[in-house]
Amino acid sequence: MIIEEIWGYYSEDLKLAEEKIKESLDTVAPAISMVGKHLLMGGGKRIRPILAILCSKLFGYNGEKTSILACSVECIHTASLLHDDVVDGANIRRGRPPAHSLWGNQAVILVGDYLYSNALRLVNSLESRKIMDVFSTATARMSEGELIQLHKKDECKKGNFKISEEHYMRIITGKTAILMSAACGSGAIIGNATLEKEEALFNFGLKLGMAFQIADDILDYMAEEKNLGKSLGKDLEEGKITLPLIYFFQEASHNEVEKVKTIIKSENFSQSDLGYILHLLNKYVSIEKSYEKARIILDEAKKELALFDDSVEKSSLLNISDYVLRRKK
Ligand code: IPE
Ligand code: IPE
Ligand code: MG
Ligand code: MG
Repeated sequence: MIIEEIWGYYSEDLKLAEEKIKESLDTVAPAISMVGKHLLMGGGKRIRPILAILCSKLFGYNGEKTSILACSVECIHTASLLHDDVVDGANIRRGRPPAHSLWGNQAVILVGDYLYSNALRLVNSLESRKIMDVFSTATARMSEGELIQLHKKDECKKGNFKISEEHYMRIITGKTAILMSAACGSGAIIGNATLEKEEALFNFGLKLGMAFQIADDILDYMAEEKNLGKSLGKDLEEGKITLPLIYFFQEASHNEVEKVKTIIKSENFSQSDLGYILHLLNKYVSIEKSYEKARIILDEAKKELALFDDSVEKSSLLNISDYVLRRKK
């Protein structure tokens, strides 16, 4: 199946999750339905819900728990985007003005809090202590990831650009990969998987999530803005050092490194500064090296699926793995 067909094939399951999402926004606080709907109904790819659906169906599970899980995971993702856009000072999300530019930071932060805690309430209704543990740990680790990143950005503004590849991996594991891992592993728990298969899916999701964030960080430099629905060069503008730049710093001349540091410190750099940095990233094949790293991680992810028999779900998971690097948005 090509990637669009996967979403089509599971449209009924996704529809059930969408209904749950809508229900979860139906509250007495007007900001929740306005702000929540703006983002939740604003055209996200729904990759985390599809992972939860695929991983529970992999074990033949077809009950109601899947839609609760899929809804919860998307609500947590949405909450993290609401908060992230405030922290990053984003000016566009999914091709539209970000929620905080329409309703202000206060409302958006509180709606994010609501979405996080309501999602955990939904997860709790699954009556699995294990899944509850997975999600409460995941949300805590996501906040840690964002906070470590914030600390690094502050350091960077002070002129300390040192961030190792290992440190970067720790950040992306927390802020992105843990939630994808939770979506996959909890799907397996719902499906009554053996411990071995459950663990394989937790690992699959974790590695997929890491590669997904590496791709996001590459796209930040070189996507088509209209496809991406976010502005290009945003990470650089914020002083967020991601994998392409880490590889560049390892190879470039002292002079080039100093020039790039000056551009990042200047904060309001121009299109031509971004062009110059892209030229340097190409010169040192830093983008290609980042893709290569993501490819290696994805190969490891795919290996986790070796113990499963062939099925539509398994091939869909493999297809999604390939899509992570092909994606344009
Ligand atoms: C964006 O996630 C944030 C990252 C973890 C990179 P997605 O790319 O899944 O965002 P939507 O939901 O499709 O907009
Ligand atoms: C991912 O990081 C954010 C979360 C996991 C909340 P980014 O800051 O790179 O995500 P985008 O690029 O804003 O979507
Ligand atoms: Mg961001
Ligand atoms: Mg990004």
